[in-house]
Amino acid sequence: MKRIRVLGEQKLSGTITISGSKNSAVALVPASLLSEEIVEIDNVPNISDIDALSEILEYLGAKVERNGTNMKIDSTSVKNKEIPEEISKKLRASYYFMGALLGKYKKVEMYFPGGCSIGERPINLHLKGFEALGATVKEEGNKYIVEAEELKGANIYLDIASVGATINLMLASVLATGTTVIRNAAKEPHIVNVATFLNQMGASITGAGTSEIRIRGVEKLSGCFHEVVPDYIETGTYIIAGALCGENLKIANAIPDHLEALLSKLREIGVPLEVGKDFIILSKGNNYKATSIKTAVYPGFPTDLQQPFMTLLTQCEGTSKVEENIFENRFMHVPYLNEMGASITTSGKTAFVNGKTKLFGRRVEATDLRAGAALILAALCANGETTITKIEHVLRGYEGIIEKLQNVGAKIELEEIE
Ligand code: EPZ
Repeated sequence: MKRIRVLGEQKLSGTITISGSKNSAVALVPASLLSEEIVEIDNVPNISDIDALSEILEYLGAKVERNGTNMKIDSTSVKNKEIPEEISKKLRASYYFMGALLGKYKKVEMYFPGGCSIGERPINLHLKGFEALGATVKEEGNKYIVEAEELKGANIYLDIASVGATINLMLASVLATGTTVIRNAAKEPHIVNVATFLNQMGASITGAGTSEIRIRGVEKLSGCFHEVVPDYIETGTYIIAGALCGENLKIANAIPDHLEALLSKLREIGVPLEVGKDFIILSKGNNYKATSIKTAVYPGFPTDLQQPFMTLLTQCEGTSKVEENIFENRFMHVPYLNEMGASITTSGKTAFVNGKTKLFGRRVEATDLRAGAALILAALCANGETTITKIEHVLRGYEGIIEKLQNVGAKIELEEIE
């Protein structure tokens, strides 16, 4: 078990360099299976989610070579076989192997553990899309067997602009016969990154980044070199750190255009921002004012930044309102923030943050990835020392977060406990 200890109220100065996007990389790695040749991906974040996906690839017989943030994947000797529960349950993004294996071999047999702490997270839209392409879906407990005689292009409307379903259906249809149109598709930057990757392998996908994606099936996919896009959620997390305790903090290798919703809310609060082409520089401001946010699909306010942003709202004068519209249980950081001195009440999908409140170091626990990030941000600006247990949740999604924060002056240490 790991925990971190943070001594708060340190100024953060210097440069934090953003890594490759977790939510892009966890789709690109399984998607590599679709190629008949070797695929090289650069700027892959060194996080445990990628370790788990590499394990599944090797289990299937692929050769994976990792060198820092560079990954070479050779799927030429892959044998399609059932993916057992003990390796697929390590992360939800294992569901991208459904689309990739179905797309390439017209059959996938894998366990997929539904749900996680932030919500029930069904995959009904993924399965409905697979059926639209001509596959049959058999569920035995949480084991799925999805297979098709032939995959034929189809018109698929997504009731929810689901990131996972959009990506999985791109993977399943890229080698199908004919053209697939996904309507009400998700538009997140990682959707565009995956479509670009597939097109570099020889696919024919247009419209990624809009709500209508067209995939014209091709015979086969070749190798390619691809670079993972910078992680805009990691970027947003460190921008919020700067708003809380920055002193000329620079966040480099970023794409500010991916964060318009966050940046406009920070300006509303009164955070002084310098936004460059691929960087943001900021220092902690004074007299932050309360605001309200509603999480929404891209380009709306990202649900993944709702929790870190709520920590900043505790430092804003007045009552802020946070509406979480994507997941049904994404306020688990609230009791811990309140223990640290915040004054937050929740009612259904809405939280009310009464600021400004001084925060104090406490013993708290990370319940999920972004809740843990919110607690680290609170610890950085709290008076005294905070310990955060179950920090594995955070380490799986933020590459080198301890070192990145130490390098700009945070007093933060990682500890192994029993
Ligand atoms: C991806 O999850 C991300 N994970 C999440 O990031 C992110 O919060 C989410 O997209 C929204 O942006 C990865 O990319 C690995 P969805 P995903 O399908 O694909 C419901 C993080 O912190 N839904 O867009 O699972 C679902 O329950 C993680 O990095 C269905 O009902 O999200 C949710 O309420 C957390 N049926 C909503 O749609 C389905 O078939 C959005 O889910 C699929 C989804």
